[in-house]
Amino acid sequence: MKLVLLGAPGAGKGTQAELLKDTLNVVHISTGDIFREEMKNNTKLGQDIKSYVDSGNLVPDEVVTKIVANKFSKDKSLKKGWLLDGFPRTQQQAIDLDEILKKENQPLDYALYMEATLPVIIGRLTGRRICKKCGALYHDTNRRPQKNGICDVCGGPLYQRPDDNEETIKKRMDVYLESTTPIIDYYKSQKKLIWINANEDAKGVHEKLLKIFLKDKKFDQNKIVRRN
Ligand code: AP5
Repeated sequence: MKLVLLGAPGAGKGTQAELLKDTLNVVHISTGDIFREEMKNNTKLGQDIKSYVDSGNLVPDEVVTKIVANKFSKDKSLKKGWLLDGFPRTQQQAIDLDEILKKENQPLDYALYMEATLPVIIGRLTGRRICKKCGALYHDTNRRPQKNGICDVCGGPLYQRPDDNEETIKKRMDVYLESTTPIIDYYKSQKKLIWINANEDAKGVHEKLLKIFLKDKKFDQNKIVRRN
């Protein structure tokens, strides 16, 4: 399966990507995670993009597209299927992605548009906590770790993303509405758009997505790995 996840900050793209990655046995590519890793390691790229990410602005198209194009040309594991989370984010990135996929002969199956209401989004972003070591996602009310501030998976410390403060969330929402929502029509016109109500809990949204795939004749149902 080859998927793009669309949706506002906090719609739950990263959460669903982690679930779908295992269930569908595909590779999860998150441009936001790539940038945060570069910033953590204080690389040249990390230094160049920090001011954009910290302020809630978009990293320039040519920088992001080059990273994604490199990933597609070098990572052979993408042949088994992939899930793009956070890319494309502008009309230009969507056009560039089509070019990359054409060159790699990897046509997109669907763009999943996850829609959640503003109060839900704000609640999710302000409560989000992330493991510094392994990146596992938590929430201070709806997905708490067993030990306060400690990751259940690897024991690493949890932190709050610097861009998850109210002022930057507002900026990210404005940027999303202006730059990213036009892509919804772009995929609609390609008949690849699937809309999903993302206000439910994470398991509910995941089950809804699986139901959609199960109805799809071109999807190999034996590839779904069910977990309890
Ligand atoms: P990025 O990391 O992509 O951030 P984002 O799009 O703002 O999305 P988020 O990660 O905030 O939200 P999400 O939808 O993944 O929600 P999550 O699942 O974590 O990008 C960060 C920055 O990098 C950008 O601002 C930009 O500067 C730059 N960038 C990245 N890509 C770029 C590009 N292509 N072009 C230019 N610049 C780019 O969930 C949030 C919380 O809610 C979690 O705590 C989770 O546990 C909880 N939660 C999730 N789903 C549910 C649910 N269904 N029920 C209850 N709680 C839930």
